[in-house]
Amino acid sequence: MGRDATNLAYIVTIVSFILALRFLSHPATARRGNQIGAVGMLVAIAVTFANTTVVSYWEIVVGMIVGGACGAVAARRVKMTAMPQMVALFNGVGGGAAALISLAEFHILAPAAGHLQRDISISLVLSALIGSISFAGSMVAFAKLQELVRGRPITYPGQKVGNLLLFGACVAAGVVIVAGFEHQWLLVALCLGAGLFGILFVLPIGGADMPVVISLLNAFTGLAAAATGFELENNVLIVAGMLVGASGTLLTVKMGRAMNRSIANVLFGAFGTVAASGAAAAASNGGTVRSATADDVAVMLAYAHRVIIVPGYGLAVAQAQQDVRQLADLLEGKGVNVSYAIHPVAGRMPGHMNVLLAEANVPYPQLKEMDEINPEFPQTDVALVIGANDVVNVDARNNPGSPIYGMPILNVDQAAAVVVLKRSMNPGFAGIDNPLFQNPKTVMLFGDAKDSIDELIAAAKAL
Ligand code: TAP
Repeated sequence: MGRDATNLAYIVTIVSFILALRFLSHPATARRGNQIGAVGMLVAIAVTFANTTVVSYWEIVVGMIVGGACGAVAARRVKMTAMPQMVALFNGVGGGAAALISLAEFHILAPAAGHLQRDISISLVLSALIGSISFAGSMVAFAKLQELVRGRPITYPGQKVGNLLLFGACVAAGVVIVAGFEHQWLLVALCLGAGLFGILFVLPIGGADMPVVISLLNAFTGLAAAATGFELENNVLIVAGMLVGASGTLLTVKMGRAMNRSIANVLFGAFGTVAASGAAAAASNGGTVRSATADDVAVMLAYAHRVIIVPGYGLAVAQAQQDVRQLADLLEGKGVNVSYAIHPVAGRMPGHMNVLLAEANVPYPQLKEMDEINPEFPQTDVALVIGANDVVNVDARNNPGSPIYGMPILNVDQAAAVVVLKRSMNPGFAGIDNPLFQNPKTVMLFGDAKDSIDELIAAAKAL
């Protein structure tokens, strides 16, 4: 295949990646976005195979079959609640691949010291450094989310200084290599040091902050892939890596903004330690909480004009998305106007609620983003909060002393009545009390969300 034809095919791939990102930004078009991206990737692989001097096709094919089979089985089997750790794993192997390619390229290109061009050695060092950090950090994120290691922040004295020194040593090793000390053992040492830094960097971050960390590590993997693109002089890898780097960075910033936390606070704030003390605060709060029966709540819902359902992490835990859809259909059949309020960080990963509700084929026009739905709460009869807590915590709006003060919330307390479905008075991710539960407008329906919704369906049918 000629150089021009190759570049033309690569442009097709790049355009398809950009289109894929565009389509992925809305739940209604996300599937198509995924498909377009996959086709673009297929074109890139085919063109690369047709062009490069491939040493052994069969080894690559075996690798693709084994890797593809593992990926396909894992993707089909993974539960929605385990999706963040799956993304961590996939992201980590991407970073690891970039680091390994660096080691292999170095081995081929630098048989003796002083052989490497400056731009190539810089790319090699960058992809080894960033790829190793991303690989090891993602593995720790996976282990925390999978509860293989303690999810709570692991901190010890001198941690930040130690991490800084280790990172400085890795950068210094990279500078020495670029300066001409081209020895394989030094690049291996750099990779090991960067891997250790990746582990120590993620250990102090609480398990529940992992989605933000994974998104940041995803951006790192993109940058490592882009550096690998320079190393291999492959344009499509450079652009694809930069797209991943940029979109990962934007996602990280957006998540931080939606939680009203700086990225520095997520990375260095050891947020899970707040959770422990907050849980105690929640337990000691003595306000009055009113609980209701499913029959009471079914009457409230069935005779309402307008109901807004507010899903949260508990909906994902209970896997109650199909049941919610059934309840909404039943209410709509009784003439109730039902919509869903989607907070940008409800659940534990970006788009968590959209994906869950899409699984139950909830019509997209019923899903409303926070800014769109908030003005509608004052005209709403019942806000039905299902397994959500922090995203409806009024302290975030009213209490400057709250750890989540300033985080934008769904203003459910402005509805005429609020019903909260959860199992207990336990706090959510932030580990803090929620005064909404003591609001005179609020009633609690305690129990697993799936069981409670099934009871509501049965009670509403009987009306
Ligand atoms: P949370 O504040 O975590 O609250 C979830 C609630 O669900 C808990 O209070 C829990 O109470 C309840 N619950 C759990 N299992 C349940 C079940 N089976 N049935 C009924 N209820 C159940 O969730 P949220 O309101 O969605 O807020 C998300 C939080 O995660 C925010 O603080 C956000 O900043 C953080 N976060 C989000 C992301 C992304 S990207 N989404 C990333 C990192 C962090 P019980 O135990 O009493 O049932």
